[in-house]
Amino acid sequence: MSGLRRLWVPVVLVVVALAVWWWRSHSAGPASVAMEEPAVVAKLKDPAIIAKGRYLATAGDCISCHTVQGGQPYAGGRAVPTPFGNIPAPNITPDPDTGLGRWNFDDFWRALHTGVGRNGELLYPAFSYTSFTKVTRDDALAIFAYLQSLPSTHQPAKPLDLSFPYSVRSGLAAWRALYFKPGSYQPDPSHSPVWNRGAYLVQGLGHCNECHAARDAWGGTVSKAQLTGGQIPELDWYATDLSMQANGGLRGWSKQDIVDLLQTGQSAKGAAFGPMADVVVSSTQHLRDEDLQAIAEYLQSLPPRPSPITESASFNSQSLTDHGKDIYAQRCANCHGKEGNGVPGVYPPLDGNASVMEPTGINATRAVLLGGFSPSTEGNPRPYSMPPYAQQLSDAEVAAVVTYIRQAWSNHAATVQERDVIKNRHTPID
Ligand code: HEC
Ligand code: HEC
Ligand code: HEC
Repeated sequence: MSGLRRLWVPVVLVVVALAVWWWRSHSAGPASVAMEEPAVVAKLKDPAIIAKGRYLATAGDCISCHTVQGGQPYAGGRAVPTPFGNIPAPNITPDPDTGLGRWNFDDFWRALHTGVGRNGELLYPAFSYTSFTKVTRDDALAIFAYLQSLPSTHQPAKPLDLSFPYSVRSGLAAWRALYFKPGSYQPDPSHSPVWNRGAYLVQGLGHCNECHAARDAWGGTVSKAQLTGGQIPELDWYATDLSMQANGGLRGWSKQDIVDLLQTGQSAKGAAFGPMADVVVSSTQHLRDEDLQAIAEYLQSLPPRPSPITESASFNSQSLTDHGKDIYAQRCANCHGKEGNGVPGVYPPLDGNASVMEPTGINATRAVLLGGFSPSTEGNPRPYSMPPYAQQLSDAEVAAVVTYIRQAWSNHAATVQERDVIKNRHTPID
């Protein structure tokens, strides 16, 4: 991969040079400081619109990137990690000098809908505008009204932490040409209004695809990879396939199971952990029941996709699973059950569990090494926890027990070997 990247650098440089030229000649230039139209001004002050915007900002989870741990909400500062470096999320409170205080609605619409900043600069897609572009203008206006109603916090932006050539913003023109098409959500008349609401939330504000899809070496989502699952770059967790597929997808999940997971962080089919736990805590647990039902209805309509199990034919996993079975009986069966059924509302089942069977094995490996809690939510304030096994089990033992749970009962997923565990033992917790 790094060899491939090196090869690409000269190409990138040429593209960057062309892009700078293109951008200089086409850029809209600094945003006008035009006054807001009176009709817009009235809407920005309307308490009902502000309340709606607050709800939509929660659905978009704007707070999680735009707030540094322990800092003022929406005042920015958190660096969003990408394979190319860290991109700090800016202050979006109404502070005139360091936030959105001088922005008018058209500036905001341009940023959310087309990923272009107030001075015509191209924004990095670490800001999920590739999804937010689907948000309607009315909803964007409500979000802007809410952000403008926040207490203003003076907090200057942190500098970009990217190496050349990724640090050249205009180089994004090439990326955008390949991976980004602005366009609001178009309702599909062949489906119900509930399904369309779910699709709108999932594809747009919920930006589920930003994690739940494979990315190529350029950080773009592979075409047609909608919600088919993918490893999140720099986070070392695998966001599972959200289609109804068996062995790694949501096969067997009822609508209520999906609603439960998004509302409480737990369901009869699995618990949320890693980055999904954060999504539940800061965003989905606050959504209205009818919106969660709509999301579930949309996800349930995603057709199952074939996922070939890539197992090297020469590798015989029998001794690994035999060893794993013993470890499971000693260490795990007390909580997760001999048959991997779990205990409803307490311990997640491992049989049929999407995160146990995702293609890489990284989620189960890290769950065993790190242990964990499902998130504490209003619907499930005191979740049960799982102890970490990093100290008790060797790499070979972790590989054995993880392979066992991936192949026991009705599960069919590829072997996890000792070398895979070694790789994941030292990855950061979040
Ligand atoms: C996954 C992290 C993430 C989420 C979620 C996110 N943002 Fe951002 N946002 C960023 C980053 C990073 C940037 C800076 C991009 C850059 O510097 O090119 C940014 C930039 C922006 C900007 C441009 C600000 C400026 O000063 O140029 C606006 C406006 C914005 N975000 C609004 C929002 C809103 C509204 C939401 C929720 C609907 C949201 N963001 C959700 C990470 C995020
Ligand atoms: C920041 C990245 C991220 C975002 C955004 C995200 N997810 Fe996830 N999601 C994950 C990861 C990682 C997992 C696997 C870990 C787990 O099972 O909790 C996951 C798992 C899930 C699961 C399966 C849980 C299980 O137990 O197997 C569902 C259902 C789900 N996500 C739905 C959604 C929906 C709907 C959205 C959009 C509203 C969304 N996710 C947005 C990262 C994300
Ligand atoms: C004390 C009870 C307990 C024991 C013992 C235990 N677990 Fe867990 N396990 C849990 C709980 C609670 C969760 C949910 C917490 C979370 O999501 O982080 C969980 C989550 C998991 C998950 C993630 C699945 C999901 O949907 O959340 C895997 C994989 C897992 N355990 C495997 C194992 C293995 C393998 C062992 C033995 C080496 C084991 N567990 C031992 C309680 C336990």
